[in-house]
Amino acid sequence: MKLVLASCTVRSWEWGDLDAVVRHANNRKVSINLRDRFPYPYTVNDARSWLESVGGRLPETNFAITVGDEAVGGIGFTLQPDVGYRSAEIGYWLGQEFWGRGITTEALIALTDYAFSTFDLSRLYAHVFEGNGASARVLEKAGYTFEGRMRKSVTKEGRTIDQLMYAMIRD
Ligand SMILES: CC(C)(COP(=O)(O)OP(=O)(O)OC[C@H]1O[C@@H](n2cnc3c(N)ncnc32)[C@H](O)[C@@H]1OP(=O)(O)O)[C@@H](O)C(=O)NCCC(=O)NCCS
Repeated sequence: MKLVLASCTVRSWEWGDLDAVVRHANNRKVSINLRDRFPYPYTVNDARSWLESVGGRLPETNFAITVGDEAVGGIGFTLQPDVGYRSAEIGYWLGQEFWGRGITTEALIALTDYAFSTFDLSRLYAHVFEGNGASARVLEKAGYTFEGRMRKSVTKEGRTIDQLMYAMIRD
């Protein structure tokens, strides 16, 4: 899969992305806003496990964000089980040196369209940790709607905080 955009490309993960993933993911300013399965420090073994887990997995729902064919971030969605099967949770991260250029917003808009056109989905949603103004802004710019606050729903580095729920619906 490959979506060539103005500021970046969203494409399938490749084994050759290993070093770039470690370089850009190993940053507490990135991990602090993500689930604990995105660790800090982020080691070569973590990147290897990640690439193993996504390599060849079908359907393919996790992708690299590349700039000049260097993997500088990731974006993907998780199809929900059981009665949630027409919903998917979308998530993303980007290496800090690339922040503020509109890259994630462009990738999110493109992957949202891809997900809705490729899968039988009625809903894409994201949960944003409170205080992550950049991610909330990305979702708003991409056309997602704020649906509510999930109070005290996650504990990150010992702090129990709210999450903001954003979603896009397509019938
Ligand atoms: C969130 C993240 C993906 C944003 O990526 P990005 O490519 O810099 O995003 P964009 O450039 O497309 O847009 C960022 C917007 O947030 C705004 N912004 C930045 N910091 C902000 C803050 N503290 N509060 C409010 N808005 C903020 C920017 O000004 C920009 O909005 P604008 O275009 O209206 O000026 C990136 O910061 C990141 O990887 N963070 C760590 C991981 C993460 O939070 N993932 C999402 C989990 S839900």
